[in-house]
Amino acid sequence: MQKKLMELKNLAEKKIQTAKDLQALKEIRVALLGKKGELTSVLRGMGKLSPKERPQIGALANKIRSQLEAWIEAKREELEEAKFVQQLATEKIDVTLPGAPITVGGVHPLQAVIEEVEDIFIGMGFEVAEGPEVETDKFNFEMMNFLKDHPARDMQDSFYITPEILLRTHTSGVQAREMLAKQGEVPLRIICPGKVYRRDQDDMTHSHQFMQIEGLAVDHNVTMSELKGVLLTFIHKVFGEETEVRLRPSFFPFVEPGMEVDIYDPQKGWLEILGAGMVHPRVLEKAGYNPERYTGFAFGLGVERIAMLKYGIDDIRHFYNNDLRFLRQFQSV
Ligand code: PHE
Repeated sequence: MQKKLMELKNLAEKKIQTAKDLQALKEIRVALLGKKGELTSVLRGMGKLSPKERPQIGALANKIRSQLEAWIEAKREELEEAKFVQQLATEKIDVTLPGAPITVGGVHPLQAVIEEVEDIFIGMGFEVAEGPEVETDKFNFEMMNFLKDHPARDMQDSFYITPEILLRTHTSGVQAREMLAKQGEVPLRIICPGKVYRRDQDDMTHSHQFMQIEGLAVDHNVTMSELKGVLLTFIHKVFGEETEVRLRPSFFPFVEPGMEVDIYDPQKGWLEILGAGMVHPRVLEKAGYNPERYTGFAFGLGVERIAMLKYGIDDIRHFYNNDLRFLRQFQSV
């Protein structure tokens, strides 16, 4: 029995010393000293010993038990220490590392153009208005003097939701909305930026959704020369004082006379940037302004067009793809 105990002690020492972690050590402890452990099962044989041997073996067993407990405790401390050291190593923070860069967004080039144009017109006494993108036939067409079977409706291939509701094809409907809201009062000078929609095949220069800025002035004695002055001021501010401008007669049902405005680009020649004209008397009348007393001018410009010319962008689709390589070029705009 004594021999068995000594063997157990030697084997146990080895096991304890080679325990690789705290969990393994716990299992070894249970296997040695637990209720069903090795030491306990050896001691179960005590009953067979002579009364003389019993106290000796009992004392030895107790000694071994304390010895094993001491070893286990020492090993436990050692393993905990090792675990702590390892934790320190893996969770180490290097405070000298450079910080993660904070990325700052930029203003989208279309928004930059809108803000620039707004500032220019606010400087000339205009206010900024808004209108709905889902518009009624009444405001998109009827109030703008496109009668039901007017062939000019074909100029603007539309996305209809119902026969009476569509995605607006231009921002011009806002003219009628603003005039009605103003209830015949003057002066009325607004610009309205916003998205418009047309059933166009997308390519380098066309998009089924794009942006316009509408302008409207209604007052006593609003003249074509005021319109020209306002547009020249705007163009010279955006494209530079030297920019050559050409006004070309054109047709839109809601203006009379109507025109298109071109600017001269040394590489590309004359380029159309906006439509404009004197508000048609019938449009004034429908919206509650007596055309005998009041006159007005209106214009509508394409935001993408302006941005493309200003920044030398050759494909309209760049504006909508959200390619960061494109957008980052405008971060300081
Ligand atoms: N609404 C016209 C278009 O979309 C532009 C325009 C606005 C023309 C105002 C004249 C006056 O093409």
